[in-house]
Amino acid sequence: MTTLELKDVRRYFGGVKAVDGVSLTVTAGKVTGLIGPNGSGKSTVVNLIAGVLGLTSGEIFLQGTPISTESADSVARRGVARTFQNIRLLPEASVLDNVVIGFYRLETSPLYASLLGLPSSRRETRELRERGRTLLARFSMSEYEDVPAGSLAYGFQRRVEMMRAVASNPAVLLLDEPVAGMNDVEARSLGQIFAQLAAEGMAVLVIEHNTRFVSELCQEVHVLDSGRLIAYGTPQEVMRNPAVIAAYLGD
Ligand SMILES: Nc1ncnc2c1ncn2[C@@H]1O[C@H](COP(=O)(O)OP(=O)(O)O)[C@@H](O)[C@H]1O
Ligand SMILES: [Mg+2]
Repeated sequence: MTTLELKDVRRYFGGVKAVDGVSLTVTAGKVTGLIGPNGSGKSTVVNLIAGVLGLTSGEIFLQGTPISTESADSVARRGVARTFQNIRLLPEASVLDNVVIGFYRLETSPLYASLLGLPSSRRETRELRERGRTLLARFSMSEYEDVPAGSLAYGFQRRVEMMRAVASNPAVLLLDEPVAGMNDVEARSLGQIFAQLAAEGMAVLVIEHNTRFVSELCQEVHVLDSGRLIAYGTPQEVMRNPAVIAAYLGD
């Protein structure tokens, strides 16, 4: 079952061919890896899928429906969630509040009404906070519920971002360098959560510079270099590929 499909996707910035003819599929139930040296176009691919950037040419399909021309909001409402290479949280707000914001893709009351505690939204808010606590438990973050997100250690802030992204129960989860700056232990424990989300049916695309993490986590990996895919296969296969070795040596 294919969830997300990119067909010959290109994005040029003036003369820079950031993404230059990428075709790949991200399947439900799996963690798919996209690796490549710095500047190879990985974040641009995420931004194209998420509707943050427009395509120069090509098509992106979600469950067979073309989404290439939709806005970021509309792509998110269709069930594509993402995290950013640089963490974006509300640092003063509590961990739980940051996670609850993630539910709003599905809700009808405007966010400001909930924040103001207007009567129409109080019950909804209570339910969402309960669901938020369930997520915190799953990510082993319950004890930090009331802590301002900005005061957490880096690896825990990443977890908060991750919980916010999965709060809306997306069909597709795009993770842009989710373990950057983490040690191996933190990375591995997050990796287990990604594997579990995939096992429950999510399509997970992990963008990484860190090849070791991807090798442990993914059954299949695509390799980008200068906007083009140069290899695809199991982590063992692609890491033996001379073109991949050359691309990483030049990095
Ligand atoms: N908004 C932009 N304007 C101009 N050039 C960009 C922009 N975004 C990315 N690029 C260029 O596109 C290429 C790929 O960048 P990026 O997708 O961020 O790579 P990666 O995430 O693999 O490090 C780089 O050469 C980068 O400088
Ligand atoms: Mg990047």
